This record gives sequence, C-alpha cells and structure tokens, in this order.
Amino acid sequence: MGDNLNGKVAIVTGASGGIGKCIVKELLSEGCTVVGFNYVQDSDVNEYTEYIVDITNREQVQDAIKHVIDKFGRIDVLINNAGITKDNLVYRMSYEDWDSVITTNLTGAFNMVKACIRELVKNEGVIINLSSIVGLEGNVGQANYSASKAGLVGLTKSLAKEFGRKNVRVNAIAPGFVETPMTEKLPDAMKKATIERIALRRFGRPEEVAKLVKYLVTDGTYITGQVIIIDGGIEI
Ligand SMILES: NC(=O)c1ccc[n+]([C@@H]2O[C@H](COP(=O)([O-])OP(=O)(O)OC[C@H]3O[C@@H](n4cnc5c(N)ncnc54)[C@H](O)[C@@H]3O)[C@@H](O)[C@H]2O)c1
Repeated sequence: MGDNLNGKVAIVTGASGGIGKCIVKELLSEGCTVVGFNYVQDSDVNEYTEYIVDITNREQVQDAIKHVIDKFGRIDVLINNAGITKDNLVYRMSYEDWDSVITTNLTGAFNMVKACIRELVKNEGVIINLSSIVGLEGNVGQANYSASKAGLVGLTKSLAKEFGRKNVRVNAIAPGFVETPMTEKLPDAMKKATIERIALRRFGRPEEVAKLVKYLVTDGTYITGQVIIIDGGIEI
C-alpha cells in the first residue's frame, strides 16, 4: 500500500466495469479518495463512493461534480474510462448506434473534462483517457468505436497543449484486447484469430491496464500528451 495519492480525490467513470474496477483498486492502494461515476449500480461498492451518473447527460455530470467538490473539497484526478461498443458493418450500422457510441465515448469524456477542468487546474491534476488501439488503426465493424477512440487521442493532445503550462498532465492509454465484459461478447473464432496476432499470445488482464493508469497518475510526472499502447505486442 502506497501513499502517493494521500489527500487526493479521483473520479473514475465506468468504475463498475472490468477495467474500471481495477483502476479503482489501484488508486485506493495509493491512499486516494475514489469516486466512481457509474451508469449502473455496482453491487460490490464498499471502498469507494458511487454516484449514478450518465456521462452523456451534461446536467447530471455538472451536478455530480459540484456535489463531489462540496463533499470532498477537491478533484485531482479524472479517469475517463466509461465506454461502449455497438459494432456493425457500415452498411448495417444505424445512425442511432453511431450517435450513441460517439456521444458516450467522446462527448461523455468532454462533458467530464468541462465540468472538472477548473478544479484540475487549481490542483495541478491529471487526466487519463481510455482510448484503444482501434482508435489508432481502425477496425472492420467498428467505424463508430474507432472514430470515438481516435477522437479521444485528439482531445488528449489538445488538452495537454492547452493546460500543460498550468501543470495539468493529460495522457491516453490504448489497450489492445483485455479480458472484460466488453470483450466477453466477441465470438470465439474472432478471439482465437486475434490471439494469433498477439506476440504474448493472450488477452491482457484489466489489472495490467490499471497498473499503467496508476503509473501515469503517480510516477509519470514528465509524461503528457502521449498515447501509451498496452496490447501484448499486436502486429509488431
Ligand atoms: N476491454 C478491452 O479489450 C478494451 C480495449 C481497448 C479499450 N477499452 C476501453 O477501456 C474502457 C473500459 O472498458 P471495459 O472493457 O472495462 O468495459 P466494460 O463494459 O466492462 O465497462 C464499461 C463501463 O462504462 C460504463 N458506462 C457505459 N456508458 C456509460 C454512461 N453513459 N455513463 C456512465 N458510465 C457508462 C458501463 O456501465 C461500464 O461500467 C472503455 O472505454 C473501453 O472502450 C477496452
């Protein structure tokens, strides 16, 4: 148990998800107060404070952030982790599925940044955005998801440039395939074919992504505006 984040307050969106749960544990292990913004109630919340927030709803986000500042006094870390997939070939992708993925993954992150940025500037804070290798390379059947994740790369770099002189660091993490509810739904044949392309011949574990998040928050004090790939070596 470390104490690098003693007295600091972190917000993690999608804290009830596969990677989100592990990020919460890592931040707690450094003595941080963690607040999860969850779409659905997390049955095993006990160590962190949970707010039920839809990050696509700007009023809900602003109200919840005000509440966090009133209750905990500050915000130092924002982890934009919530994300969804609605995969389909473009021929079959509905406008609704395009809109909901872009609105959740990209606009949702912006809504969080907008609501927190003054606090983060005040406290020389840190933002981490969960992008994906698909945002760098594209993927068949994921035009909406890959566009949203590429958008997060642009958001990350722009924020890093805009707030660097205020000592706010902003980075993105681009995981490959990680064992979580999000990838559980992939067909077995696709999982098998994907593993063949990974040098380490396995999917990543959510704990491995969470450790990288912790590193970027605590020790990575001279890293900003970067996209860190964590994918077990895909097509290297
Ligand atoms: N699992 C992977 O292989 C993988 C790979 C690359 C990137 N990622 C990214 O990592 C992040 C976490 O993914 P995961 O695999 O843990 O997914 P997950 O499905 O287990 O968790 C996603 C979380 O986001 C929450 N969420 C969705 N919409 C929301 C909304 N409108 N408001 C608030 N919360 C909302 C869900 O309730 C859930 O808790 C996502 O951004 C995902 O795109 C995952």
